[in-house]
Amino acid sequence: MTSRTNTMVASAGLALSLALLSRAAQADETQAAAALYQQNCAACHGPQGEGIAIFPALADVGSRLAAEDVAEILEHGRNQMPSFDHLADEERAALVEYLISGMGVEKQD
Ligand code: HEC
Repeated sequence: MTSRTNTMVASAGLALSLALLSRAAQADETQAAAALYQQNCAACHGPQGEGIAIFPALADVGSRLAAEDVAEILEHGRNQMPSFDHLADEERAALVEYLISGMGVEKQD
């Protein structure tokens, strides 16, 4: 192989590993957010975000609310919804992302 081909093969390999790494990181984040959801939210909003009685469904919340609205509700609470400002900022951010993106349901690229 010429050194040019070597470089090309090496950069293709690098790009592939980076893509795989970022996929894995994303999966980890989704898993962490899912765990946070189960610990903090599922009791009221349901394990799948299906909602019940006065507790709104969250699985489709991204179609009703913007990320900022969800973040605001999480930080300050609203009516019967308690505030979650005891969670770390990153944890709330992860939850917002998790909910807005449909609770980890694989999106078609
Ligand atoms: C003690 C029960 C309870 C828990 C626990 C709870 N919620 Fe709620 N949540 C509610 C209620 C009740 C409402 C409706 C508030 C209202 O009527 O304004 C609500 C509303 C919401 C809304 C607005 C939905 C909409 O369609 O307007 C979001 C977003 C939300 N909750 C997210 C969460 C998240 C994320 C967690 C976990 C960190 C959580 N909630 C935990 C009771 C709860």
